[in-house]
Amino acid sequence: MSTSPADHHLPSVHVRPPKNWINDPNGLAFHDGHYHVFFQHNPHAPTHTGVHWGHYRSTDLVTWEQLPIALTPTPGGYDADGCYSGNAVSDGTRMVAFYSAHRQDRWWQPVTSAESHDGGLTWDKRPELLIPTPPDATTMYRDPYVWREGGQWRMLVGASLAGDRGAALLYESADLEQWHYRGPFLAADDGHAPGTGGWTGWECPQYAAFDGRGALVVSLWDAVDGPRSVRVYVGTESAGVFTPTAQQPLDHGPDFYAPALLRAPDGRWLLWGWSWEARDAAWSGEAGWAGTLTLPRELVLTQDGRVQQQPAREILHHRGRRTVHVPEQLAGPQALDLGEVGSAFDLTARLRPDAQAPGGLRLVTARDGSEYLDITLDPVAGELVVYRDHASQDPRALPGQYRLPLGPESAVDGAVDLRIIVDGSIVEIFLSTGEALTLRCYPTGAPPWRLQTLGRTHVTVDAWDLTSGSRKDWPEQSAALAGASPTGPVG
Ligand code: FRU
Repeated sequence: MSTSPADHHLPSVHVRPPKNWINDPNGLAFHDGHYHVFFQHNPHAPTHTGVHWGHYRSTDLVTWEQLPIALTPTPGGYDADGCYSGNAVSDGTRMVAFYSAHRQDRWWQPVTSAESHDGGLTWDKRPELLIPTPPDATTMYRDPYVWREGGQWRMLVGASLAGDRGAALLYESADLEQWHYRGPFLAADDGHAPGTGGWTGWECPQYAAFDGRGALVVSLWDAVDGPRSVRVYVGTESAGVFTPTAQQPLDHGPDFYAPALLRAPDGRWLLWGWSWEARDAAWSGEAGWAGTLTLPRELVLTQDGRVQQQPAREILHHRGRRTVHVPEQLAGPQALDLGEVGSAFDLTARLRPDAQAPGGLRLVTARDGSEYLDITLDPVAGELVVYRDHASQDPRALPGQYRLPLGPESAVDGAVDLRIIVDGSIVEIFLSTGEALTLRCYPTGAPPWRLQTLGRTHVTVDAWDLTSGSRKDWPEQSAALAGASPTGPVG
């Protein structure tokens, strides 16, 4: 096991428990003065089995406090094989969580709920399922998302219609108890390639309302290959039916899935995703942990119907010592050394390739220069290109090259502004124009690492260490699982 600080792949600022498995963010709600972040969690092993709902909360999105496990599968019960994904709402003094009850002996995961009257420390599950069966013609059914709109409660559930269309099914309720099925909010052929043997469905639908318009976020899933990617549909809703006018990928990287939304008290839409491992299961088994949430992101919808995202502004509070400060200059073709960074840093850069050839940044993670992650601009293709092929000398890490098309407004005078946040093995890249690319990589070289330029490029760079904002982890999840009283987590 290497979950000690010596495990430089373990994120320090991103929310995840110190050990074991995590997947989707769930139940994001602001309640009792706290942002609550629940998540799919196996507290016993770094594997996707026996999933519970883990729980952190924060007053400021910077300092996080781990709370006892919120939902645990009931042996022999309707959720015996997992408390799968869903969300939570704050309703007066109570929080109500809606989730997918998983049992291996049925193909659908019916909707059920649990409520808490003590700020999410303890939960009572309802004795019977809330919505026991899916509507006709569904071939996949899970992941409720509940929100309040127009004086009533609404719920979307992820589904597949006859296997060939992903769908978000709409229900409505006056009291969170009696739910009436309205029909598909949106169902669409999501571009799933026929002939792959699989069929398509949507997981974890989420909906953000923006002044008369809406953004429907869905995670595209294949019955054979599993999770594919995340898409956001932008459009308007009328009489329970959503009509999209545009769609786009929510993230251009390979390691981003099942994001969930939270409406902050100041009206901002915040979003967290799940970033899975890009290494083999044996390695994460050895490390004792798998998966992380992304940073919280702020989502906005532009006048012309594009969803843009940036790290939540609170993430600036994690900036510690500035380790790199390079004023504008022309570098290359020889690599220019920009300075040293730790394994967790926040970087801003302005890049402008000076030739019709890719130019950008290289994060060198082995002293002999043989291990590196390249983040470049390709002026000919009009793309940001990330090369992970040499980012780890361990063959158990996945290689790959990923591209983010630059919009016409990305480049002012050909210059592109970027923010790159690296925290252990997660890399999140944001363009100033609101596109994101998330990936994982696993350098074998111990930090500090070096930052260099690549190709002929004008470059301006600053980087700061990320400081971890005093996270309080629950001392022993096993004690919490055994029902220890929440007298206060320790740092
Ligand atoms: C998405 C997902 C959900 C499901 C959960 C199970 O990653 O497959 O559809 O509820 O994870 O952990």
